[in-house]
Amino acid sequence: MEDTLKYINEKTNNFKPEIGIILGSGLGEFADENCDYALFYTEIPNFIKSTVHGHKGRLVFANINGKRVVMMQGRNHFYEGHSMAEITYPVKVMKKLGVKNLILTNAAGAVNESFKPSDLMIITDHINFMGTNPLIGPNDADFGERFPDMSEIYKKDLIKVADECAEKLGIKPQHGVYFASSGPSYETPAEIKMARIMGADAVGMSTVPEAIVANYCGINVLGISCISNAAAGVKGGQSLSHEEVIETTNSAKASFKALLQAIIYAF
Ligand code: HPA
Repeated sequence: MEDTLKYINEKTNNFKPEIGIILGSGLGEFADENCDYALFYTEIPNFIKSTVHGHKGRLVFANINGKRVVMMQGRNHFYEGHSMAEITYPVKVMKKLGVKNLILTNAAGAVNESFKPSDLMIITDHINFMGTNPLIGPNDADFGERFPDMSEIYKKDLIKVADECAEKLGIKPQHGVYFASSGPSYETPAEIKMARIMGADAVGMSTVPEAIVANYCGINVLGISCISNAAAGVKGGQSLSHEEVIETTNSAKASFKALLQAIIYAF
């Protein structure tokens, strides 16, 4: 951690971000448009390479609307073969840099039958169905306690801010529970039915590890899913593809970016 922070501080002139953002599939453009310093993950000591198509793999620092922001342009996923500790390491780095509020974004499949592709969903809670937990292993009391409370990861006051910003922009976001599966295979229709019975509204392969670690470290979390497709079996029998996910997030990008700008300003 010392090596990581030393490198970042040197390269960014001791930039002290207050807001963190992790940009999901197809949403990385926001960091191209707001960029004061950019560091590739590959050059930062102890960071890991992002490998998924549509993810750039840079840590970007920018002043946006008078707020100091650090963004992950592309995230690392569990399904790439990295450990839970590895994929959540950047959240701990953000904590050390001074981040207070973290906005987690992703592309997700709709489990809720009333959701449409291109809808934005504000995450109210999650179900960790990845089969593991990023906090397994010795506890570093420097970050948080052994058995951290998870009753309100996605902070109600941040959701309220996001709702107010959306309303001003004429965006009507959905709200719901995000269900995380490990991937990389998409779910089966039976698994999606199970997720719905369990109370899920959207499904994806990310976000939950970072949300758990952020909450554990005392960082407030806001989660926004861009609904990219109907999950398996939801709209009859059509199959899913990563191309479809990227295409739909592309079409939702404009409202997503506007909402992000407004939320940063309001935080
Ligand atoms: N399932 C899991 N992850 C996803 C999906 C999906 O349908 N869409 C985008 N990410």
